Amino acid sequence: MCGIFGYIGSDNNAADKVFKGLIDIEYRGYDSWGVSYFQGNSFKTVKKTGFLPSIFNFPSSSISIGHTRWATHGGVTEINAHPHLSCDNKLVLVHNGIVENYRELKKELTNHKIKSETDSEIIIHLIEDQLQDKNLKDAVSEVFNKLEGLNAIVISDGKEIVVCKKGSPLVLGKTENGYVVASDPNAILPLTKKLIFLEDGDLFSLDAGLDPEFKEIDWQYTKADLDKFPHFMLKEIYEQPQVLYNQIQSLDAAREIAEEIKAAFGTYFVGCGSASYTCLLAEYAFSKISKKHINFSIGSEFDYKEDFLTNKSLLIAVSQSGETIDVVEPVAHAKKRGVKIVALTNTLGSTLYRMADIKHLLNAGPEKAVASTKAVIAMVANILLYAYSLAGKLDLGIKVIEDSAREIENIIKRQDEIKKLADKIYNVQHIFVLGRGISYPVALEATLKIKETSYIHAEGFASGELKHGCLALVDKGTPVIVFLPNDETKAAVLANAMEVKARGAFVIGVGFENNPVFDFFFEVKDVGASSVLPHIVFAQFLGYFLAIKLGLNPDKPRNLAKSVTVK
Ligand code: F6R
Repeated sequence: MCGIFGYIGSDNNAADKVFKGLIDIEYRGYDSWGVSYFQGNSFKTVKKTGFLPSIFNFPSSSISIGHTRWATHGGVTEINAHPHLSCDNKLVLVHNGIVENYRELKKELTNHKIKSETDSEIIIHLIEDQLQDKNLKDAVSEVFNKLEGLNAIVISDGKEIVVCKKGSPLVLGKTENGYVVASDPNAILPLTKKLIFLEDGDLFSLDAGLDPEFKEIDWQYTKADLDKFPHFMLKEIYEQPQVLYNQIQSLDAAREIAEEIKAAFGTYFVGCGSASYTCLLAEYAFSKISKKHINFSIGSEFDYKEDFLTNKSLLIAVSQSGETIDVVEPVAHAKKRGVKIVALTNTLGSTLYRMADIKHLLNAGPEKAVASTKAVIAMVANILLYAYSLAGKLDLGIKVIEDSAREIENIIKRQDEIKKLADKIYNVQHIFVLGRGISYPVALEATLKIKETSYIHAEGFASGELKHGCLALVDKGTPVIVFLPNDETKAAVLANAMEVKARGAFVIGVGFENNPVFDFFFEVKDVGASSVLPHIVFAQFLGYFLAIKLGLNPDKPRNLAKSVTVK
């Protein structure tokens, strides 16, 4: 969370470079932004609340740092936006992370004028104090060692930029005429492919004498633009059939990982949010397809279950960004216990990618909308392929993935039916979603898409669970979505649909066959175990159209950001 970008060099358009870089990483936080640039002999700073504008004209300068914020300490105001300045206005700082002991540290700052409510501003004043008898690098080092928590900071005094990090990602790049620093390598690639990924505890001063070796990498910058689409979410939903076809181009990784699962003494799929639902889905898929038990955990809970991990365990970390701290931390702990790590991620060079023994890229292309769509589809497809490979039925796996891609193409053509549903239910307070077996995680994913894009309260259930308490919430007209795949769950799911219908629910069936219990039906052809994929796409469209009907921006939901790098 929070985007960081900085430039120092002999080019005189530093602030423009920083501004462009921030546009690329705005998904990391978008409640406010700011850019400082050194002009004459002092820093000038622009700070605004809200999204970045598409253009901003900055005067010439050769040092600049900028930030897009996802608020943790202090509300969304211009004063709380970064960069923060020292009392003498000679130092500027941008920060990502949380200074857990900032209240204690603030007590040392009796003779400083603190302007914001942030933990970040404390850092710059502490450094200002240290500068009385130290150079900038040593002052930063002294202060950074006092900070508790996971933090990345970038500071400049107008002569150099000093960077350091623990936990939060930072990447340096060497250009023809200078250096760049950013929280995301993709944002640096338009300027240079000579990179260094900072490790925890690294501290560098970006100046001509910078000695560590930059590695030339052969990655391509993948620009994501809207083309003809009004929103990235819609564009990314449309890309999904192709993303699925990409997954079956090369199956070496699926085969290798299936072998690792076979050999391991305990396999754990770990992820957060939507990725965690794909991990839960893995538990059902492996049981059903390969008759194998695997374990699932939410990333932020995995630390509390790690005691029994051994060097024979296998951990499969599932993450679009590869930066989610709630996955990175337990992976780091498991690694110390000798656990073999697989990263199933969309992001080349990300922290998880670099930590993993086996790296499997999702090849879904950059995902810009905060609500994950095509990355989730690619995760689920690969999990199914691992399970089919382990069962020795990879050909069947390929077939069902192809069938599901075709069915998603079909849903894209029929999206108006889902739009009509959104127009009918957009003003409700609650939506419930039911699924059994492998469709239970689909129900959870469906509710997350609805919640984050439309802010309507939605709850997903294993459909048998509803009558154990939450049925009390179902009232006349409450929309209840029921996933009905052509599998062993259908009779029981229909019985549960009857139960909610009897309480007055507006029952929305999504599946292979209509039934009188449904008040609204959206047909999804039976494509075997991979029916979960088109079912998820139904929910993505519903979330998207609910947002549009409610006048909300589906790409940038309130309070959220992509790439969650704080705990
Ligand atoms: C939901 C969503 C989030 C992410 C979660 C994990 O639409 O996008 O729930 O799935 O924050 O992110 P990654 O996959 O980057 O680890």
